[in-house]
Parts: sequence; C-alpha cells; structure tokens
Amino acid sequence: MHVETRILLPSRAMRTAIYPGSFDPLTNGHLDIIRRGTRLFDRFLVAVLENEGKAPLFTVGERKELIARCTSDMPNVEVHSFSGLLVDFMRRVDANVVVRGIRAVSDYEYELQMALMNRELHPQIETIFMLPAVEYTYVSSRLVKEVFRLGGDVARLVPPTVLESLKARLPVTVG
Ligand code: PNS
Repeated sequence: MHVETRILLPSRAMRTAIYPGSFDPLTNGHLDIIRRGTRLFDRFLVAVLENEGKAPLFTVGERKELIARCTSDMPNVEVHSFSGLLVDFMRRVDANVVVRGIRAVSDYEYELQMALMNRELHPQIETIFMLPAVEYTYVSSRLVKEVFRLGGDVARLVPPTVLESLKARLPVTVG
C-alpha cells in the first residue's frame, strides 16, 4: 500500500543578504555579483561603507546613486550606506547573510579573516562567497580608476552610467 507522506514546512523566513563594500565606483564585476545574488535572496541590500578616510573619488551619496541607477531593473535590490561595524548594521536591517565576491585566490585570505571576524562578532550570520563571471575576475575599482586616469579604455569594465560619471569627474592624464 502506498502511503503518501507530506512534510509541511513552516513558511520560509524572508531571506535578506547584504553585499557590503566601498564601490568607488561600481564595476561590472560588482554588478554581476548583484545580479546573481538577487536570484538567491528575497531582499538584496547593497551597502556602501561610509569611510571618507579612504579619500574616495565619489561621495557615498554619488556611489549610492550610481548603484541605484545601475540596478533599477532589479526590484529586490535596496541601496544603503552604513558606518561602524557591519554586523551592527545587519542587526538593524534584519539581515543574516553577507555576500562577498571572490575573484582570485589572492582575495581569499582577507575575505576569510573578515568572515571569521564577523562570525566572532555575530555567530548567527553567514558569509557566502560568490564568483563573478570569468571576464571580470581581474576587474577592481582601484584599477579601473587608474587605467581611466591614464587614458585607458574601461568601457567594458564599468556600466555606461559609471563611465559617464568617470568622464565628468576624472581628468585624463596621458603620458
Ligand atoms: O569593498 P571593500 O572595501 O573591500 O569592502 C570592505 C568592507 C566594507 C566589507 C569592510 O571594510 C567592512 O565590513 N567594514 C565595516 C567595519 C567592520 O565591520 N569591520 C569588522 C569586520 S572585518
């Protein structure tokens, strides 16, 4: 006799992830991780660190605006900024997963330290590492700014909106 067994699962809690970073500026590598992340989570919060000490090219407000414009086709993305500890911000917005992109083995050591420190500070949160599309594995905000400043073509590496802002902001110094 066949007995049908049905397991009734409690309704799943809203899954909220945080994708924190400097995003000075957003690159196509970041955007690729955001797009992948939005498919895994109900709410995907991009959180810009307020750290003016790093002498950023774009203000936090400008970076948030660029991210918002580049993700306007992704309804479950929210753009935030935070200062202080990431885990404290996560408590405030009720998020329990940190998403970080890993490009190469060289990223791993720093990311491991951050993930374990965040676990020490808040054992209930998990960090998950995501891989960007292979064509973006060498792209970083720092290199984009350097190459652009020296007259190199970064059109394939950043969203068009970001490229326009770079053109408006950075004088190009060639040779
Ligand atoms: O894009 P970045 O600059 O590598 O991002 C680093 C970031 C923002 C994720 C990290 O510096 C951070 O979470 N800063 C907040 C301060 C904090 O919580 N520090 C302790 C955890 S290591």
